[in-house]
Amino acid sequence: MIIAIDGTSAAGKGTLARRLQEFFDYAYLDTGALYRAVGKRVLDRGQDPSDESAAKQAAYELAPEMMLQLQNDPSIRTEVCGSAASKVSAIPAVRQALFDFQRNFALHPVKEDGTPAKGAILDGRDIGTVVCPDAQVKLFLSASAEVRAKRRLKELQEKGICVIYEDVLNDVKKRDERDSSRATAPLKPAEDALILDTSDLTVDDVFARAIEFINQKANI
Ligand code: DC
Repeated sequence: MIIAIDGTSAAGKGTLARRLQEFFDYAYLDTGALYRAVGKRVLDRGQDPSDESAAKQAAYELAPEMMLQLQNDPSIRTEVCGSAASKVSAIPAVRQALFDFQRNFALHPVKEDGTPAKGAILDGRDIGTVVCPDAQVKLFLSASAEVRAKRRLKELQEKGICVIYEDVLNDVKKRDERDSSRATAPLKPAEDALILDTSDLTVDDVFARAIEFINQKANI
């Protein structure tokens, strides 16, 4: 079983993915962490995330055996890394470099402790459309830019980071525009995805709707 979760930033993909992971005991891959790690590597070297050859080199340097652990690295969770990730992810060679690992994870899911799992949950931007067009379950989460900016602001404030709402909102909008308008694997829902606008839904609501959809798909 492959569950693909795509959507805009801060729409609740990660929260839903972790709830589903616990519920089904599947393996989970946050594919955004891969792009964030590439973006961070480029920035750490003082290079430009939009520089194709710098980003491509950084992507090919990520060893597959360390990719699953990247999602636990707090240093990639900054806004700066998120924005760099959005830039490197528009480069086709970077997407190509990360594709095999994601595909292999979906087909042979392994939990973080190394044990095999009966299913895979991947979240990102192109899982249902490019990485796993064959996924049995595809979910696409969105929410208004204002709601997502407020969620992001709260997260950052809880981490003690001082930011202005308008700056966060601008960043959310810029990232939406870049992720949706790029030529390769743009952010868009797969035709057979359940689209959920989470603006007015609680975490429990989103989880309940996802479970209902998964049950329907499992009975087909
Ligand atoms: O989900 P996130 O905020 O951690 O993702 C960071 C960036 O990585 C996002 O702006 C776009 C890119 N990304 C992508 O292009 N494809 C994916 N499957 C996952 C993330």
